[in-house]
Amino acid sequence: MESSSCIVGVNIKQCHYCFLLVSLLMILSLGNSVSSSSSPPTKRFHFNVEWKQVTRLCHTKPLLTVNGQYPGPTIAVSEGDKVEIKVTNSIAENATIHWHGVRQYRTAWADGPAYITQCPIKGGQSYTYRFRVADQRGTLLWHSHYTWQRASVHGAFIIYPRLPYPLPSKIHAEIPIIFGEWWNGDVDAVESEMMKYGGGPNSSDAYTINGLPGPLYPCSAKDTFIQTVERGNTYLLRIINAALNDELFFAVANHNLKVVEVDAAYTKPFSTPAIMIAPGQTTNVLLTTDQSPDSSGMFPMAITPYLTSVFPFDNSTSVGFLKYNLKTKPSSTPSLKVPNLPKMSDTPFATQFAQKTRSLASRQYPCRVPKSFDKRVIVMVSLNLQDCPPHMTCKGYDGKRFFASMNNQSFVRPLTTSVLEQHYKNLTTTVQLSSDFPEQPPKKFDFTGVDPLTENMNTEFGSKILTVPYGTNLEIVLQGTSFLNTENHPIHIHGHNFFIVGRGFGNYDPNVDPAGYNLVDPPERNTVPVPAGGWAALRLRADNPGVWFIHCHLEEHTSWGLAMALAVRDGPGPAQSLLPPPDDLPSCGDPHA
Ligand SMILES: *[C@@H]1O[C@H](CO)[C@@H](O)[C@H](O)[C@H]1NC(C)=O
Ligand SMILES: *[C@@H]1O[C@H](CO)[C@@H](O)[C@H](O)[C@H]1NC(C)=O
Ligand SMILES: *[C@@H]1O[C@H](CO)[C@@H](O)[C@H](O)[C@H]1NC(C)=O
Ligand SMILES: *[C@@H]1O[C@H](CO)[C@@H](O)[C@H](O)[C@H]1NC(C)=O
Ligand SMILES: *[C@@H]1O[C@H](CO)[C@@H](O)[C@H](O)[C@H]1NC(C)=O
Repeated sequence: MESSSCIVGVNIKQCHYCFLLVSLLMILSLGNSVSSSSSPPTKRFHFNVEWKQVTRLCHTKPLLTVNGQYPGPTIAVSEGDKVEIKVTNSIAENATIHWHGVRQYRTAWADGPAYITQCPIKGGQSYTYRFRVADQRGTLLWHSHYTWQRASVHGAFIIYPRLPYPLPSKIHAEIPIIFGEWWNGDVDAVESEMMKYGGGPNSSDAYTINGLPGPLYPCSAKDTFIQTVERGNTYLLRIINAALNDELFFAVANHNLKVVEVDAAYTKPFSTPAIMIAPGQTTNVLLTTDQSPDSSGMFPMAITPYLTSVFPFDNSTSVGFLKYNLKTKPSSTPSLKVPNLPKMSDTPFATQFAQKTRSLASRQYPCRVPKSFDKRVIVMVSLNLQDCPPHMTCKGYDGKRFFASMNNQSFVRPLTTSVLEQHYKNLTTTVQLSSDFPEQPPKKFDFTGVDPLTENMNTEFGSKILTVPYGTNLEIVLQGTSFLNTENHPIHIHGHNFFIVGRGFGNYDPNVDPAGYNLVDPPERNTVPVPAGGWAALRLRADNPGVWFIHCHLEEHTSWGLAMALAVRDGPGPAQSLLPPPDDLPSCGDPHA
């Protein structure tokens, strides 16, 4: 069952059932609210990390999967549920799972990034991720957060709302659509090779829609995603970008998409001929089947990369189909053309799309953007080049090695413990964390100019942490650079949603740009594409105690060190402290020692 069988549209009847159940529980809990806190239901899942022989593009290889499925199983829970996912690692390599975008309030131990909030789950061992899903609703994803396992270890994480959807149309069915990348070779070897020689990674051999490359790739016509629909209905597409290294455009021929939610936060609905979606982002859109198909009955849909880098990337296109369920037999072959798909370099489209995305900001779902800030941190995001060590071959630009950094700090994971454990122990013992992440770029220069400090693109290596008190209203300005090239970086923050209050091209000016901020209905997200050669200003309330990874969701850049960690101290209140670590938390040491 490796192919599309797990992706058929979920009939909305199931959700009506969820609403009823949740409403019933709400009534019960309201009755109880004075005397006791009612216990939310617990949803339990079991993930087995295992190899599975999978064939795409006529290449059969062992693919790392959860429960033998590719893409992996869907987690569907309801707002307010407790969730327990027992992950058994049945391979020789380490593994972890990250519940991308789940707030993990006080449960940072269950967040998943290796060496940040936990040591990896070793081969033959299990770890149960326990957390509660509260105050968020919609589509997210889960994925491995160890090496490049995310390439195939990923799936949908759906949170059904407690209240009915605030949507402009009645939904006939929900269709999860997961984008990914396929390598004919071993993905871990691609990362190892890249780190060994300091060059760019091999590009993927195909993009996939729900694990299927589609007819534009060799040997793949039979591996094409086809979604059957009825004419005259509205469908909710839950779109997830689980690709490793590529931002994507997506469009369906002849059909507009109405965006209603991003990263599990409702948006003001808007119509668009296509979407831009960065790795780690999710987008819910409504699609109405109001077109008249030709005699094939099919409309193609496609993904293609949004490319801003001058370095080689997978520049191919994956096609799937919307198949209208016609009474007549199809009598022609379907077209593969999606004219409304943007060109790969269409930055104006990406910019307009970002500008159109706004929080719903309704009475029921107010926009909780901090109107003021306690601390502003300006973080320069850049690629770097280090000299080739003697007697080594380096395959990066100019015979050097690629790295990447935030404020000239290339992040190094500790490997013998997790940052969270160090942080937690500091509260009781005196183990020191280096809390001195620079809050400004170490040098001021024309960050996005034609010729920035090109004579020295070196970086520093370390694990400096940005530490803030509980409740800090934080403004983080991400400043792109033109080191090597200007590139759009999708920056993901764990444990918090943030509001994108401003963005622009060129250098951020703290005296001018704040005047243009949107503090009314800025989009609420967990991953922001920082404009190529520009900046993005974020606001968040640091109200989740623990340690949270902040990194570029292009996996190659994280491997090169484009990452940092945010530590939020415990607050004074009773429910404002990090919970103690669970008993089964994996250790980095030898389990038999
Ligand atoms: C990367 O691509 C090159 C050229 O196609 C190939 O020789 C090499 O084996 C690939 N490396 C991996 C790890 O797949
Ligand atoms: C993709 O990149 C290759 C190599 O850089 C180039 O030859 C080819 O024309 C590109 N294809 C498209 C569709 O841009
Ligand atoms: C750890 O404790 C020391 C001593 O109390 C303090 O100076 C330091 O800021 C603490 N670090 C963190 C990350 O809490
Ligand atoms: C980054 O750090 C390296 C190593 O200390 C230094 O040579 C370089 O000038 C720094 N670059 C910037 C932009 O601060
Ligand atoms: C798994 O992680 C542990 C802890 O960092 C490390 O000691 C071990 O070498 C890793 N195992 C493999 C197979 O990479």
